[in-house]
Amino acid sequence: MALATGLLCAASNIAVSTSGFANVEFVPSSNGSAVCIQGNVPVYASTTKNQNITMPVSAITNQTVVTETIVEFLMAGEGLKQKILSGTTTVSGTYNINARLCYPRNTGINAHSVQFLTHGGGFDKAYWDIAPGYSYVDVAAASGYTTFSYDRLCTGLSSHPDAHNVCQGPLQLAIAHSLILMLRNGTFASTPFKHVIGTGHSFGSGITNGLTVEYPADLDAAVLTGFTTNFTGQPTFFASLDLTIANLNNPIRFGGLSNGYFVANNYVGNQFAFLKGGGFPAANLAFTEASKQTLTLGELLTLGPIIGRATNFTGPVAVVDGESDWMLCLGNCTVPTDLAAAVLPNLYPNASKGSESYLVPLSGHAVNLHYGAQVAFEHIMEFVRKSGF
Ligand SMILES: *[C@@H]1O[C@H](CO)[C@@H](O)[C@H](O)[C@H]1NC(C)=O
Ligand SMILES: *[C@@H]1O[C@H](CO)[C@@H](O)[C@H](O)[C@H]1NC(C)=O
Ligand SMILES: *[C@@H]1O[C@H](CO)[C@@H](O)[C@H](O)[C@H]1NC(C)=O
Ligand SMILES: *[C@@H]1O[C@H](CO)[C@@H](O)[C@H](O)[C@H]1NC(C)=O
Ligand SMILES: *[C@@H]1O[C@H](CO)[C@@H](O)[C@H](O)[C@H]1NC(C)=O
Ligand SMILES: *[C@@H]1O[C@H](CO)[C@@H](O)[C@H](O)[C@H]1NC(C)=O
Ligand SMILES: *[C@@H]1O[C@H](CO)[C@@H](O)[C@H](O)[C@H]1NC(C)=O
Ligand SMILES: *[C@@H]1O[C@H](CO)[C@@H](O)[C@H](O)[C@H]1NC(C)=O
Repeated sequence: MALATGLLCAASNIAVSTSGFANVEFVPSSNGSAVCIQGNVPVYASTTKNQNITMPVSAITNQTVVTETIVEFLMAGEGLKQKILSGTTTVSGTYNINARLCYPRNTGINAHSVQFLTHGGGFDKAYWDIAPGYSYVDVAAASGYTTFSYDRLCTGLSSHPDAHNVCQGPLQLAIAHSLILMLRNGTFASTPFKHVIGTGHSFGSGITNGLTVEYPADLDAAVLTGFTTNFTGQPTFFASLDLTIANLNNPIRFGGLSNGYFVANNYVGNQFAFLKGGGFPAANLAFTEASKQTLTLGELLTLGPIIGRATNFTGPVAVVDGESDWMLCLGNCTVPTDLAAAVLPNLYPNASKGSESYLVPLSGHAVNLHYGAQVAFEHIMEFVRKSGF
């Protein structure tokens, strides 16, 4: 692990320690408001709650098996779960997590608080810094905030272990918990962060909610984007992705992965699942395909179990959804009632005053890719500021 302290970052002329990261690179955010330290972080994590999936990855011999398995996953009656799940299993280990700590170029690291960003399925941490105008990281930095984003286990530059029994929500939740302890105890950039605000998207919001359920002291505030408690659109969402074996779909990017790693077949499904017509620039549709990331059966089967009612979480919560989110609302989040607002009474009976929800106009599930992204980011920064962080 690189422990070079006092390193002068040429990009910002501010001396910042790179402790906690190996294979360090300095990269600017897309519109240059932030300077980022990116590198690998060994993270120990353990869970007793992964599901025991009795179907081995080796059973996925070809695309026909994948398609049939997805059909069974979406079928009425939970038949796939009855067929291939058998209790829980303990998984622990040290995993390589690729992470990026981004701080305001002009001021250096703001140790008062850090925003902990967990991306959703089909993306990696690039989701938080897509392009000028579509960069959560830039808007946070311009507002004085430090951000920490990372590739969830099994995506991007992080470790890619067994796609069925290791790549699951409960272990990813345990990894998020370890990373937050490390942010608080000064592991990264020799900076002990005083407050941690968790912001998630979709699957990453499931993990962020899971933190507030299982480890209510981890986060001072939670921001859940692409998240409701209504999953009516899920079958058509997953059907539209047309999941395929990643190593066959794009051998250049995914050639080293087992058949247990799936990706959306092409940009058509990505548009259907993630984007609202008229609400996004063409370049961002191209981004969904060029930067697409994997999903595994282990993840598909374990998002539900990590989501829960966070009775012990007493911090503020914001729910921010695209008004036209397909997966969460069949394209209209105002019917039968505001489905973002409904998350608060459903899951956060003890959240503090100041909790709120917001529907982003003309936006689908992947809010950060839409014209409304900038307004949504500014809305979130205002929520964080009003909450005192
Ligand atoms: C796919 O694999 C299954 C199970 O190994 C096999 O029965 C089937 O014939 C294969 N299908 C194709 C199209 O290769
Ligand atoms: C998973 O379930 C199978 C079938 O019930 C069982 O044989 C196996 O020991 C279990 N594995 C673990 C790790 O619990
Ligand atoms: C990008 O940065 C420039 C220079 O700071 C600024 O003028 C511009 O508004 C920013 N663009 C976006 C989309 O944030
Ligand atoms: C910080 O927390 C991590 C995760 O719990 C732990 O592994 C590490 O030893 C801690 N470091 C310090 C300096 O306390
Ligand atoms: C909430 O906190 C109480 C008191 O510490 C504890 O007994 C209870 O198990 C916690 N509930 C959950 C769901 O974690
Ligand atoms: C949370 O709210 C429930 C009622 O929904 C109440 O019974 C419980 O005591 C509250 N817990 C805390 C920690 O405030
Ligand atoms: C879930 O959303 C769908 C579509 O928007 C709606 O028809 C249904 O009534 C909602 N269910 C609940 C419990 O809110
Ligand atoms: C959502 O449904 C409501 C109630 O039918 C309707 O008034 C509204 O225009 C719809 N929104 C969109 C974006 O279609």
